[in-house]
Amino acid sequence: MNSIQQTEAFVRRSLEGAEGGHDWWHIYRVWRTAKTIATQEKVDLEVVELAALLHDIADSKFHNGDEEIGPRIAGEFLESIELDRSKIFHVQQIIRYMSYKASLGDVQFTSKELDVVQDADRLDAIGAIGIARAFSYGGFKQREFYNPSIPPRLGMSKEEYKSSTAPTINHFYEKLLLLKDKMNTVTGKELAQQRHQFIEQYLQQFYAEWEGRA
Ligand code: ADP
Ligand code: NI
Repeated sequence: MNSIQQTEAFVRRSLEGAEGGHDWWHIYRVWRTAKTIATQEKVDLEVVELAALLHDIADSKFHNGDEEIGPRIAGEFLESIELDRSKIFHVQQIIRYMSYKASLGDVQFTSKELDVVQDADRLDAIGAIGIARAFSYGGFKQREFYNPSIPPRLGMSKEEYKSSTAPTINHFYEKLLLLKDKMNTVTGKELAQQRHQFIEQYLQQFYAEWEGRA
């Protein structure tokens, strides 16, 4: 088995029983989308694929906020399959710097491979899949779908964003609809544009149904 196949098997095994937004199928979609975007970019495809596969191997949210746990587990695995040191470090840096939360702080690492995987991960938060993930997350957190008296809040700090308990629809304005302007690559921007329009249409229908107008 090559490094990609070994990593796929490891990630599938590790994510058994993971919650819906970050289960194996999220990884699968990000991996596929990253490959699609990578066809138009000059990148190390092995690093792109490995980082896509390993980017959510351990979420700090479920480990007392430990933001080094993901890079550590990914690094240990990649050492066990004897990947080049420089590639291991690159994959770890991508995992460290890729989350939306990290991008709210000071960014200290950039690479074309990071751009590709980050775009693929952001794309999974918009479009039809993004809507499914948002309501799944909202259900997990027992949030209301929508509450007309609680307006969305823009420009939240990292801490406010983490501790928000607002209705799920607010998340569309606080994060999802902002993603299309954060895309790094040309292909990422095109895909985001389509998925963004789909969400806007969805919201119109949502409010119309909410008030019994459709
Ligand atoms: P990442 O995709 O970087 O791991 P998160 O862990 O923040 O990001 O989010 C995972 C999924 O859950 C995303 O699709 C995101 O839109 C959704 N999500 C995160 N926070 C909320 C929220 N407050 N309300 C609804 N959905 C959310
Ligand atoms: Ni992800």
